[in-house]
Amino acid sequence: MSSTSRNTTPTIVMSGCATGIGAATRKALEAAGHKVIGIDVRDAEIIADLSTAEGRKQAVEAALAACGGVLDGLVLCAGLGTHIRPAGKIVSVNYFGAVELLDGLFPALKQGQSPAAVVISSVASAHLPWEKNPLAAAFESGNDAMAQAIVDGAGEQGGNLAYAGSKNGLTVAMRKRSVIWGKEGVRLNSVAPGATETPLLQASAQDPRFAKSIAEFLPPMGRRADPAEMASVVLFLMSDAASYVNGAQICVDGGIDAQMRPTLF
Ligand SMILES: NC(=O)c1ccc[n+]([C@@H]2O[C@H](COP(=O)([O-])OP(=O)(O)OC[C@H]3O[C@@H](n4cnc5c(N)ncnc54)[C@H](O)[C@@H]3O)[C@@H](O)[C@H]2O)c1
Repeated sequence: MSSTSRNTTPTIVMSGCATGIGAATRKALEAAGHKVIGIDVRDAEIIADLSTAEGRKQAVEAALAACGGVLDGLVLCAGLGTHIRPAGKIVSVNYFGAVELLDGLFPALKQGQSPAAVVISSVASAHLPWEKNPLAAAFESGNDAMAQAIVDGAGEQGGNLAYAGSKNGLTVAMRKRSVIWGKEGVRLNSVAPGATETPLLQASAQDPRFAKSIAEFLPPMGRRADPAEMASVVLFLMSDAASYVNGAQICVDGGIDAQMRPTLF
């Protein structure tokens, strides 16, 4: 959306704006002239816990009230890393906490000016293909309890399964919705970050179960990303410069996806 193509300030709802990629994205959106209504467990206009069905419902209702039913943009950054226990909570926030906001706020986006939405997925979304994703049936049926039970029953692997499975499901949800949303004039895309210096990455890297794999997860560029390097791509996708981009997942990963899967894209 363009901040110059309308009389009023474009309004964007964001989840996960308190820290990391979300905080950097909020800063970039506000610097570009957007009004941001944040949803988070702290430091936000709307305080809501997206790990529960009640919290997600409360977040949607409060966001609709705050924007008066008219929304120009939606950016969903809230997420939990592999280290969180129980692992079921990772699925609840990363998948259901995003998809239920997408669906709940779509009617308001349809009323907006050049509306667009971006979800923050992950390069991990490609590590567990949909056809092999044990959480796919739970996602298709909207069954949070079923998804939680699967990952909580996976023992030490639960964190990895919950993270890769939820991000794979989220990208698929974005792709499927973009077909429907595009017909209504609302663009929907995802950003797939690689390793980015945030509290989430630091906490996962300090967990002995994941420390080695995170240390080895270095892209060809040889460094981790700064959150501002994610924010600038989100800003592009939310702008009229991306007016023909819909249903796309953009890897912002220093080339690690190309390194790991050169023949798959
Ligand atoms: N940092 C990375 O290396 C990396 C890589 C790929 C994808 N991602 C994704 O980027 C997104 C942002 O993560 P980040 O790295 O900036 O981490 P972060 O921990 O700094 O930010 C996560 C945000 O989500 C919020 N949040 C967590 N649980 C919540 C809940 N139950 N309800 C509402 N809000 C909640 C947090 O308060 C925080 O503001 C996540 O979706 C994450 O999966 C991060």
